Amino acid sequence: MKRVLLTGAGGFVGARVRQQLAEKLELIPAPKGLMARGGEEEIARLVDRAHPDAILHTAAISDTGYCESHPEESYRANVELTLWLAKAAAAQKAKLVVFSSDQVYAGVERSGPLPEDMPLAPANVYGCHKLEAEQRGLELLPEAVFLRVTWLYDLPGYGLPVRGNLVLNLVRAALQGQPQTFSPRDFRGVTYVRQAVENLLPVLELPGGVYNYGSENDLDMLETARRFCAALDIAPTLVPGDRARNLAMDTAKARRGGVAFDTTAEGIVRCLKDYGLRG
Ligand SMILES: NC(=O)c1ccc[n+]([C@@H]2O[C@H](COP(=O)([O-])OP(=O)(O)OC[C@H]3O[C@@H](n4cnc5c(N)ncnc54)[C@H](OP(=O)(O)O)[C@@H]3O)[C@@H](O)[C@H]2O)c1
Repeated sequence: MKRVLLTGAGGFVGARVRQQLAEKLELIPAPKGLMARGGEEEIARLVDRAHPDAILHTAAISDTGYCESHPEESYRANVELTLWLAKAAAAQKAKLVVFSSDQVYAGVERSGPLPEDMPLAPANVYGCHKLEAEQRGLELLPEAVFLRVTWLYDLPGYGLPVRGNLVLNLVRAALQGQPQTFSPRDFRGVTYVRQAVENLLPVLELPGGVYNYGSENDLDMLETARRFCAALDIAPTLVPGDRARNLAMDTAKARRGGVAFDTTAEGIVRCLKDYGLRG
């Protein structure tokens, strides 16, 4: 069984990694709060003590709005911390898998599914920092794997953290009678987090590089929200907005490495079946 040091173990993704992969990996959760407060030496000592085969790095400041207004905190969390881990992984000859984001594509003007190798100039602080971490991380450790992750969701589960996600936003809107705005010009993948976690097992075998990671989605966000509402059997008011954006990713590279996802429309059905809400 692979020994895997897990950062962000108390987070949305990390908590599910601990729940879902505990019998498939020997997981060593980084102490709560250490990723937010530790310096480079403390992080190196943690990796040295854990002596892992791999590091699964999910710790971050993942709130794009917070990163925009706190760029220095974002830089430490999303760039520097990743580079410290890359150096420590190199010293220990450990595989490093890092959660990056589809926000590296923010601001692209091209339509259709986006490939990993296109030139990028992210339009927000979070996307810039995730991209810098990818580029500098791979310079330090070419065997590292960076996953450009779509927006993730799960149903609320007792004892597990949830954060703002599409399903939660729609259920809340339906319960509270608050209209939600979605644009027919906004394109992105939205992924059931449990499939993203399950797929981390083949990810550990991928060659180094950057991979688009999650469900492909050829529907716009207004239609995506409609499909989710139909699947959830809820009817909040959906207001058409006019935001133009394309973060939709082409995931062929990960598929060639044995990492396959449902489409966004299929994923919600899988999620509801998992929770016994669909036959
Ligand atoms: N959730 C999504 O929809 C989504 C989409 C695309 C990409 N991602 C990326 O996927 C990864 C996991 O996301 P998530 O939703 O699980 O994140 P999250 O729940 O917001 O946070 C994950 C963990 O980050 C650590 N953390 C908190 N503040 C920190 C700071 N200032 N500096 C460093 N670490 C800090 C904490 O770890 P401890 O619990 O150990 O204290 C926290 O539990 C992140 O890299 C995120 O950017 C997420």
